[in-house]
Amino acid sequence: MLKLAQGNASSEPAGAMALDSERFVRHIYFPTMVYQYDVQSCEPLNDTLLEITYAERETGVAKNKSNTAELGSWHSATNLHKNSAYNPILNEIDAALSRISAELNYAKDQALKVTSMWSIINPPGNGNRAHVHPNSLWSGVYYVQAPENAGKIEFIDPRTVIIMNQPKYETKRKRPRETWTKVNFKPIPGRMIIFPAWLYHGVDTNMSKEKGRAGDRVIISFNINQVKR
Ligand SMILES: [Fe+2]
Repeated sequence: MLKLAQGNASSEPAGAMALDSERFVRHIYFPTMVYQYDVQSCEPLNDTLLEITYAERETGVAKNKSNTAELGSWHSATNLHKNSAYNPILNEIDAALSRISAELNYAKDQALKVTSMWSIINPPGNGNRAHVHPNSLWSGVYYVQAPENAGKIEFIDPRTVIIMNQPKYETKRKRPRETWTKVNFKPIPGRMIIFPAWLYHGVDTNMSKEKGRAGDRVIISFNINQVKR
């Protein structure tokens, strides 16, 4: 005789057959992994990073540019990982990357390493259009300064054909996470987000009401590849 699944029999539509949970199995394949790592006691690190980021902008080495110029946003040169002033944040990134390599059973003779790194300043009114980071395995962002409403980062399900036919969902209940087609992360100073380089992402316009530099959204961004040890 069929065993009844426990708990939600009453939410089944009338006439639906409740299925035995031992025989009815949901497999999940091809998930999208987004890692989050909070740096402990990040204030001194962030103060230093802020100082060197604005100093970097003053040098005028990097052009004022964004992936879409009209959205504003200042990007530094992409070789900051070669500047020893950034070693403290690189050490934090390395710690997270070692954990990811171990968790995903990556080859032990390979290390995940930062292969390019740059800073971005988004003053109020600036954002970044959706994009991917070519020629990298993973990419990441570290939030140095993020006032209220500084702009969330949005990740978009790359399986865009999914929009060809979308089911209707219960409006009064939260959609199961596995069915989401996009997700936002609020920028929190001291937080690092590491995501697949192929994952489309964009940044909302900074709507901060803070005055001067306090209104800027300041981040360190980086690309990651496997490098032979
Ligand atoms: Fe990006």
